[in-house]
Amino acid sequence: METFAIEGGRPLSGSLRIQGAKNAALPILAASVLAEGQFYIYDVPHLKDIKVMLEILTALGAKAKHVDGCVDLDTTSVSVPHVPDDLMSQMRSSIFLAGPLLARLGEVTISRPGGCDIGERRIDLHLSGLTALGAKIEESEGYITFRAKQLRGTNVFLSFPSVGATENIMMAAVLAKGTTRICNAAREPEIIDLQNFLNAMGARIRGAGTDTIEITGVQRLRSVSYRIIPDRIVTGTFVLAVGIAQGHIELTNTLPEQLTALIEVVRSCGVEIKTRHDIMEIKSNSRPRAYDRIITSPYPGFPTDLQAQLMVFLSQARGTSVIKETIFEGRFKHVNELARMGASIYVDLGSAIIRGVGKLTATSVEATDLRAGAALVLAGLAAEGITTVNQIHHIDRGYDRLEEQLRRLGADITRVSI
Ligand code: EPZ
Repeated sequence: METFAIEGGRPLSGSLRIQGAKNAALPILAASVLAEGQFYIYDVPHLKDIKVMLEILTALGAKAKHVDGCVDLDTTSVSVPHVPDDLMSQMRSSIFLAGPLLARLGEVTISRPGGCDIGERRIDLHLSGLTALGAKIEESEGYITFRAKQLRGTNVFLSFPSVGATENIMMAAVLAKGTTRICNAAREPEIIDLQNFLNAMGARIRGAGTDTIEITGVQRLRSVSYRIIPDRIVTGTFVLAVGIAQGHIELTNTLPEQLTALIEVVRSCGVEIKTRHDIMEIKSNSRPRAYDRIITSPYPGFPTDLQAQLMVFLSQARGTSVIKETIFEGRFKHVNELARMGASIYVDLGSAIIRGVGKLTATSVEATDLRAGAALVLAGLAAEGITTVNQIHHIDRGYDRLEEQLRRLGADITRVSI
């Protein structure tokens, strides 16, 4: 087992290039099965979730290599209509392989993805969307089999703007007969990246980034080379790291326009942020002010994936803040760990009331999920003494060697095998 040991109290300084976006790379790698041929996909971060996705594609018959951020992928021999159980259970979001595999092979069997640390993670919108496109779905003993000789375009209304369901339906619809319109679609930037990737392959999609996406089916698609957009959640994590540990850093390969909700909050708490082109300069040399109320919501609202990191920032602020989590019902698991570091947080009816304290105290804490784990690392940067963060495999799912990135910014953090 591995842990992070963090000696707190050191302000951050230096420059860091942001990694490619995990939540853009995963659906784009899944979409590659829609065509036969050689793909080169650049700026793919070296993460556990990416490794699992490449193992799944290999099990389906593809050939995959991942060197220095470039994925070299040959999907010519994709023919196996079954995602292996052990791999399916390692990454819940592999549900969005159903759409592209169904479109390519006419049949696919997956095991029903389990819940995860942050909530139930339902898939009803995925199933109803694929059914609307003409898929026949059978469920038995925890397996779901989708079959369709030919998918047909149709209108799909999503009762919730689910990111994964929007992506799954998009990928299934690109080879369908006719036009598909997704209403109340998710608007995340990663969906625009998926649209751009699929259109580069010869698809005809428009509207990604708005709440209505229109896909006109085509006969076939071709393999391409493509570069993944930067990771806005990793960028936001480092912005909040400066707000928590203080200091002055520069981030490159960023898209500040994708972080307006976060930038608004941290600026009003007293953090200085300057942006020019793909560069963000973040400076903080004092304890932040509290922020009245934040409600996590679908893009472009405040992202749920930055909620835990923001809570650490506000746990040190002058005054009391409230965070309401509306996306995942189980996404407050970091509260107990922060309380053990001296934070004063009260959770009631989906809201966390955070009374800012001056300093957190170092101790041993448990990462319960990806973003909660990252948040506890940030807490360790500011806590007096040595904080140990356990179960850091959660963190490796979404951050490419986080300890090396933070060390480059002057933090005292080491990965320890125990
Ligand atoms: C994506 O998950 C991201 N993962 C998540 O990032 C992110 O938190 C989430 O979108 C919200 O932005 C990837 O892109 C790989 P959803 P996804 O479908 O697609 C409910 C991270 O930390 N729902 O938008 O699973 C669901 O229960 C991860 O990088 C249904 O009810 O999110 C949840 O409450 C965590 N029925 C809400 O919608 C469905 O069929 C949001 O889920 C699907 C979802």
